[in-house]
Amino acid sequence: MSGIENPLLLDFPDQFETERLILRAPRPGDGAASNAAIRESIDELRPWMPWAQTIPAVEDTEAVYRRNASEWIARTNLGLILWRKSDGLFVGGSGLHRLDWSVPCVEIGYWVRTSLAGQGYITEAVNGITAFAFEYLHAERIEIRCDARNVRSAAVAERAGYVLEARFHHHARAVDGGLRDTLVYAKFPQ
Ligand SMILES: CC(C)(COP(=O)(O)OP(=O)(O)OC[C@H]1O[C@@H](n2cnc3c(N)ncnc32)[C@H](O)[C@@H]1OP(=O)(O)O)[C@@H](O)C(=O)NCCC(=O)NCCS
Repeated sequence: MSGIENPLLLDFPDQFETERLILRAPRPGDGAASNAAIRESIDELRPWMPWAQTIPAVEDTEAVYRRNASEWIARTNLGLILWRKSDGLFVGGSGLHRLDWSVPCVEIGYWVRTSLAGQGYITEAVNGITAFAFEYLHAERIEIRCDARNVRSAAVAERAGYVLEARFHHHARAVDGGLRDTLVYAKFPQ
């Protein structure tokens, strides 16, 4: 098939599950739970996430999620929140970003709250999001990009079966202003 001509008319669920997680589109009211997780995780987020240089106010996080909710409807950016099924705890943030519907291709991003790191939740989420993107968005290409020094992020891509395609040398500025190399991982429909 060709690309998606009018993504506004493409129907897909705004919530789906994996073994231990519920993944759903952001809604008004999600800001407080996310803000608590950002506060807890700020030291691990700061080196890699431009939006996590200082702890945001709860209202700022809430505003981000309200904007994300509107982007979901507009099909311009598909943010996702990960909730633990067993107790409803906010696990982390992810999503399908840099959508190009003409292909379609998309990039997955992610972060985990520090107290839940090292338990495979993000790899599980990436596997679920990958299946979602192939089935519902008809993705022909899914990318994961990370700073070459971000070994924990690269390990997620590799555990999820993504193939390293390229290393872009001096591709961007890191959050500290230094030059960073970017690793590009990709996956394609079977
Ligand atoms: C990148 C990031 C999300 C990775 O988190 P993570 O907790 O290492 O990733 P996972 O949730 O997949 O967990 C993997 C770990 O759980 C272990 N694990 C336990 N149970 C597992 C399971 N069922 N499945 C897979 N892994 C499991 C793995 O062995 C691995 O352990 P290790 O770190 O000792 O090697 C996290 O480091 C982070 O939020 N960093 C800051 C933000 C960031 O850099 N985001 C990416 C920007 S490109």
